[in-house]
Amino acid sequence: MTIKIAVLPGDGIGPEIVAEALKVLDCLRSDFGLAVETEHALIGGAAYDAHGTPFPKETLELCRAADSILLGAVGGPKWEPLDYSLRPERGLLGLRSELELFSNLRPAVLYPQLVSASTLKPEVVAGLDIMIVRELTGGIYFGKPRGRRINEDGEREGYNTLVYSESEIRRIAHSAFQIARKRNRRLCSIDKANVLECTELWREVVIEVGKDYPDVALSHMYVDNAAMQLVRNPKQFDVMLTDNMFGDILSDCAAMLTGSIGMLPSASLAESGKGMYEPIHGSAPDIAGRGIANPIATILSLAMMLRYSFDEAVSAERIEKAVQTALDQGFRTADIVSEGTVEVGTAAMGDAIVTALRAV
Ligand code: IPM
Ligand code: MG
Repeated sequence: MTIKIAVLPGDGIGPEIVAEALKVLDCLRSDFGLAVETEHALIGGAAYDAHGTPFPKETLELCRAADSILLGAVGGPKWEPLDYSLRPERGLLGLRSELELFSNLRPAVLYPQLVSASTLKPEVVAGLDIMIVRELTGGIYFGKPRGRRINEDGEREGYNTLVYSESEIRRIAHSAFQIARKRNRRLCSIDKANVLECTELWREVVIEVGKDYPDVALSHMYVDNAAMQLVRNPKQFDVMLTDNMFGDILSDCAAMLTGSIGMLPSASLAESGKGMYEPIHGSAPDIAGRGIANPIATILSLAMMLRYSFDEAVSAERIEKAVQTALDQGFRTADIVSEGTVEVGTAAMGDAIVTALRAV
């Protein structure tokens, strides 16, 4: 059976980094016999420019028909003046929501080669291996009512709604507990239960779900403390369970512990196991088109795809090993360069990883 992958490069550095992941995929196809075909579609600002919408119907249809989706990044200053409904981000959020990709896995792993690239002391981050499980289709990102209005005093007002149903909390909690079972069996659920009723319910439901997983040690932490603990002593965490917005914020923070936000992949999974895979970083308009972006997060996202959607753990490990080999050989993009290593561009980094993959 041939695997069908929908490829959505998106905006900014998206096309550059996706091109490198596709080189890796080509290598798996030609050298390791992986049966896979790809089809490209537009999303985000690129789709808006071509079709007047960031989320064209054809893109949704292609993604529905595909076995899996590889996405680069969306957004950029060019589209910021547009109405919210037309912004590039609506394309990405629409896809997450339409395909019910509620379970977002964001592994923050520090490769030993990058210990000195982190802004934190080596002893704080060496050996770091955290999995953030972020709820992705609910919470304040999607809650209604939302919008802008003029209030009674004639002032402009903006408002959003933080809302979670019990079943939404339950299903993401199950995801997190199951992942904790495959790791070190420690789960820390993040909330703001001292202030927000919605997250008080979050804590309650997580505790209820936890009764099914007596072998997993469950703890709870307020989000402000969690942000502090991530930079104070990040290795205390194994799996972190978060709502949509807290996960967005904490995963950028966790990414920096690994040396660069350019290192963190992600998987967004539906109940069916169908997934979308993308780096957690954005479209980085400031460096777009310069060939200097780090393609590793996207290449590692491809590895996650093979592992989670296609049960191809061996291919996934091959990719991860190849990334390590390229790092061992001293290749670094600008975001992770340090003394004694060689700075290379996006394409050269991709090539180094492909060469390493061939040699596995
Ligand atoms: C992420 C991004 C997105 C998010 C944006 C681009 C909508 O920051 O995947 O973390 O906020 O979820
Ligand atoms: Mg984010």
